[in-house]
Amino acid sequence: MRIFLAIYVFAIVATVSILGFRGSHSTKPPLEVFPDMDRQARYKPQAENEFFADGRNDRPVPAKTVARGDYFNQAEVFSAEFDDQTLGDTVLNQGKNADGQFVKTLPLEVSHALMAEGKAKFDIFCAVCHGAAGDGNGVTKPYGVLAANYHDERLRGVEDGYLFDVITNGKGLMLPFNDRISPEERWAIVLYVRALQRSQNADAKDLSEAQRTELGIK
Ligand code: HEC
Repeated sequence: MRIFLAIYVFAIVATVSILGFRGSHSTKPPLEVFPDMDRQARYKPQAENEFFADGRNDRPVPAKTVARGDYFNQAEVFSAEFDDQTLGDTVLNQGKNADGQFVKTLPLEVSHALMAEGKAKFDIFCAVCHGAAGDGNGVTKPYGVLAANYHDERLRGVEDGYLFDVITNGKGLMLPFNDRISPEERWAIVLYVRALQRSQNADAKDLSEAQRTELGIK
């Protein structure tokens, strides 16, 4: 009998609490059963924070750490045999060969997919300052950001590794991107910057005879 009563009372309480107040309005603040979950002392993304010297809530990835779920293969990175092949690859990660010289060309195979990726990332990360054509006419120009023009003679002549280094570590007033763009994506951007440079510095002679005839260029 006691068990029956307990179940009976429980069923009534459950029914009333689940269905009883459906649709009713109240001006009182809602009940907070676990107030510490509703009101947490937490940092909001991209907000300011006086605690850190740079005033940012978002913290950069600490140097020499591997972010979980990043582009690294975790099983491989944390296995006993892992010999740091990817991290130790200076060409891929720093754009420099073993002697510390900037490499002349991309260490990745050039493909349309890589170019498309480079364009996508360029539009996200670089175009605001450097402009869609890479001429330094980004939307931030009126606010005083004087980003470099990729069509400068000097920048046409630099090695691919140098461009990679600028993206990785920043330069002068430009911020570094190594904490938010993976090495592969940085190389893809280098490829796209090269394409932009080519787009503003081409000659009719670069086309084949047939292509020129097709376009009506003599
Ligand atoms: C917040 C604005 C800003 C963004 C975003 C930005 N840059 Fe820059 N960039 C600059 C400024 C400013 C300079 C000039 C730096 C200097 O010489 O002080 C510069 C210079 C450069 C240079 C020339 C370096 C040299 O040797 O003169 C290259 C190449 C470059 N940026 C590439 C990139 C690429 C690629 C991206 C995207 C991954 C990018 N930048 C994103 C502002 C920006």
